[in-house]
Amino acid sequence: MPSEVLAIAHRGASGIAPENTKIAFVQALDLGARAVEFDVQLTRDNIAIVFHDEVLERTTNGTGRVADTDFATIGKLDAGSWFAPKFARTEVPTLEEVLASIGPRALLNVELKPDARIEKLVRHVATAVARFDLFETCVFSSFDPAAIRALRSLVPDARVGVLCVPDGLDAALRLADEVQAENLHPARTMVSEALIADAHSAGLAVWAWTANKPEDIERLIALGVDGIFSDFPDRVHMIAARIAGGAGSRA
Ligand code: G3P
Ligand code: CA
Repeated sequence: MPSEVLAIAHRGASGIAPENTKIAFVQALDLGARAVEFDVQLTRDNIAIVFHDEVLERTTNGTGRVADTDFATIGKLDAGSWFAPKFARTEVPTLEEVLASIGPRALLNVELKPDARIEKLVRHVATAVARFDLFETCVFSSFDPAAIRALRSLVPDARVGVLCVPDGLDAALRLADEVQAENLHPARTMVSEALIADAHSAGLAVWAWTANKPEDIERLIALGVDGIFSDFPDRVHMIAARIAGGAGSRA
């Protein structure tokens, strides 16, 4: 077991605030999170926004596909009431707003969620991160191999994480080797001692997603992951500290 495990606030502190909104990121920082994950995609008119789903229905009062909707519409939506009434009128943030808000205060995991406009999304994200001078504190990840390759090609020095799902480990390890990734981001359920040994021997840090239940967090720490995505990053801090006998975590 490593003496420290990094807690990554998944979509911000999304267990206590509406995911991928500025308030979720503020809450994550308030909880002491030193790493924050969020999802980025393009609106119809090529504005990079921080948003998870392909469609607007689950987390806003809008309808339709993000890729078919202009930012003038998305920017006016309520992205908080679905979570709790007190978050009414919370807005969908742009990537620039989130980068400005968090800045260098936390490690950022920018998950690229491209549609067919892969190159365009990657260029927008790289340009924004460069404008805020945050490459040193950014890890870029994606489920889409083309997005990973495009990012690596555009920013050779970027820190890259390859996301993988059950049954996708071999392909993910091959891609990680091809692009010389720094991180492997496996689904929580696929993490095993063997996976961690393979990843570490390939020089990859292992960040597992997404663990919210104490027993899942405990298992991942015992297996030796380097990072844990959680909607409740403070749970990772507390459990890691308890396991380490009060020594704390680097979350
Ligand atoms: O990056 C880890 C995790 O966020 C990937 O899954 O669906 O939450 O974006 P998802
Ligand atoms: Ca994500």
